[in-house]
Parts: sequence; structure tokens; C-alpha cells
Amino acid sequence: MEPVNTAIIYYSATGTVHALAQAAAEGAEKAGARVRLRRAAETAPPEAISARPEWTRHRQETADVAEASLDDLAWADAVLFGTPTRFGNPASQLRAFIDTTGGLWFHGKLADKVYSAFTASNTAHGGQESTLLALGNTFYHWGGIIVPPGYTDPVQFQSGNPYGTSHVAGDGPPGEVALQAARHQARRVVDTAAALKAGRAA
Ligand SMILES: Cc1cc2nc3c(=O)[nH]c(=O)nc-3n(C[C@H](O)[C@H](O)[C@H](O)COP(=O)(O)O)c2cc1C
Repeated sequence: MEPVNTAIIYYSATGTVHALAQAAAEGAEKAGARVRLRRAAETAPPEAISARPEWTRHRQETADVAEASLDDLAWADAVLFGTPTRFGNPASQLRAFIDTTGGLWFHGKLADKVYSAFTASNTAHGGQESTLLALGNTFYHWGGIIVPPGYTDPVQFQSGNPYGTSHVAGDGPPGEVALQAARHQARRVVDTAAALKAGRAA
């Protein structure tokens, strides 16, 4: 059978969500998927970025990561979206990309794919779940098949978010538990998409 095409589309200003996205890419690849790791285009003004050295640094470090395009969505059987929390919601950079998908949606090209999401916030109760649920609103509109991690692996009892992998950036960069949760989430997404693909081909 053809491998599952998996797009991991994320926005990250200072690297936390990027680290989760990379772990998700590893998990998806290990599950046999063809993977595209893509970052949402930056929309913040240069003066906002240059005011924060860690933002400038992360932009330079990930300059070679391709920008997300509509073709990545059209190509994918499964999509994992990653975003930092912004006042309990997804980052505007990721939303800006999502807001370009009207044409694909109108032609039914976003339906029946598997979707899942991961996030980071600065504080423990800073809106991780509301951010993931807000992304879920879009997946409903697309007619997507939402695959959350739930508590389907022992690591979920350590990482603790059944809605999607999340990390408290205020505690430092993602450690092995969060990275393992991201790998598990991606594996589960790919396994589900593979079963759907096989069933549809049969
Ligand atoms: C405009 C703005 C709003 C934010 N809102 C929240 C928030 O509501 N709760 C929270 O815990 N952190 C909030 N943060 C912190 C970010 O979520 C945190 O820096 C981010 O998860 C780090 O991810 P990154 O390294 O991938 O950019 C906010 C940051 C900015 C710049």
C-alpha cells in the first residue's frame, strides 16, 4: 500500500512548537508515513521580531524549513497542526495560513482527512486545551476526522493532555516526555489514516 502522506504544519516563534513538530515528524516517519514538515509564514513586523533575540535566532535556525502551502494540505492524507497559545487561541500566523484554505474547502478537498493538533503555552493553565479545541472548530468545518491522543499510551499519563501534545514553555524546552507524546500522537494519526486509506482502497 502507498504510505500515508502526512503534513506537519506549525508556527513557532521561539522554538518550542518547532521541537514538538520535529518529534511528530519522527513519529510519523517511524510509522511509515511520507512526511512534509512545514512552517506557517511569518506575518509579524520585523521590529517585533528583532525586539526578541530568541525569536530572531529561531527564525534564522529554521530558515531552511519550507513554508506551508495549499499543496501540502491537498497532498496530505493526515495533517498535524502545531501552534503556540496566543491568549488561549492559535497563533495568527497559523490562522493566516488556515484562512487561505477556502478554495480547497469549497471543493471538498479538506474533507475525510485525519487531523490532530499540538501546542505550547507559557504557563500550566494558560490555554492549551482552548487552543487545541479552537483548531478543532476548523477541522469540523472541513469535515475532518479528528484523532486526539487521548490516554492511548502510557506517556499520556505523564504528559497529561488527551486533546493533543502540549508543553509549558515556561518550564524550559520540551523534554523527553513531551517529545515522546508528540511521537505517539503522530504515530496514532498515521496508523488511523493508514487504516482509512486501506479500507477506501479495498
Ligand atoms: C501575544 C502572545 C500571547 C500569548 N498568550 C499566552 C497565553 O494565553 N497563555 C500562555 O500560557 N502563554 C501565552 N503566550 C506565551 C506563548 O504561548 C509561548 O511563548 C509559546 O508557547 C512558546 O512557543 P514557541 O517557542 O514555539 O513560540 C503568549 C505569547 C504571546 C507573544
